Amino acid sequence: MSEWNANIYDHSFRFVSEYGRELIDLLNPQKGELILDLGCGTGDLTNQIAQRGAVVIGLDQSETMLERARSKYSQLEFQQADATDFCFEKPVDAIFSNAVLHWIPEQEKVIANIYKSLKKGGRFIAELGAKGNVNQIIQAIQNAICKADYKNVPLEEVFYFPSLGEYTSLLEKNGLMVSAAFSFERPTLIENGQADFRDWVNIFGILFFQNVPVSKRAKIIDSAVAEMLDNLAEDERHYADYVRLRIVARKP
Ligand code: BEZ
Repeated sequence: MSEWNANIYDHSFRFVSEYGRELIDLLNPQKGELILDLGCGTGDLTNQIAQRGAVVIGLDQSETMLERARSKYSQLEFQQADATDFCFEKPVDAIFSNAVLHWIPEQEKVIANIYKSLKKGGRFIAELGAKGNVNQIIQAIQNAICKADYKNVPLEEVFYFPSLGEYTSLLEKNGLMVSAAFSFERPTLIENGQADFRDWVNIFGILFFQNVPVSKRAKIIDSAVAEMLDNLAEDERHYADYVRLRIVARKP
């Protein structure tokens, strides 16, 4: 993520960490526990976990996000880490992850690292996009690219949105015991319709444009955003069609 994107992320997509608070209740951090926040972004949830008395380390792949996190919460520890390639020598009490795992198609590697880093009895609490997540947004992007006669990039090459059954099976196959899993639709208010949908595409959806020359993208993005404004409107407001998957699992 660029500096510019870290700014927009904090401004237009504040809801990511606001919704994440419910996930912290599921985590139920205890005083003195050692917890990893995997994919901590700009650190808001890391900070909330710390405020509940746990010792928390925020991990993220993006140095730009980490710089922002460190400047906001200088008292906390943040480390650069790749979710497909990390392991903690001192096993941790819990691993928490909000709205990041869907960026990683190599999910089995991530789960193996989570398993290795947890102590016995340690918990894994996560939320990610589920099957069908942001379907209409992606459809609008792909329609606009197709109408402009460029080749589309398939969804699976950009995001990993598993079904509940698929993800819980993968966790169990890799040694974790799932005690709760739920998938639910969460229409999410897009406060500044057109501008925020455009930011969404530029920040989160730009990998769909790999076959489109940079000079042609703005017009295609306008066309995709117009379709989103039509299809995702309700009572004069706009809602992104988020579908979530929440997981509570444990290392036996
Ligand atoms: C999500 O939180 O579900 C999400 C965010 C950005 C891109 C794709 C999915």
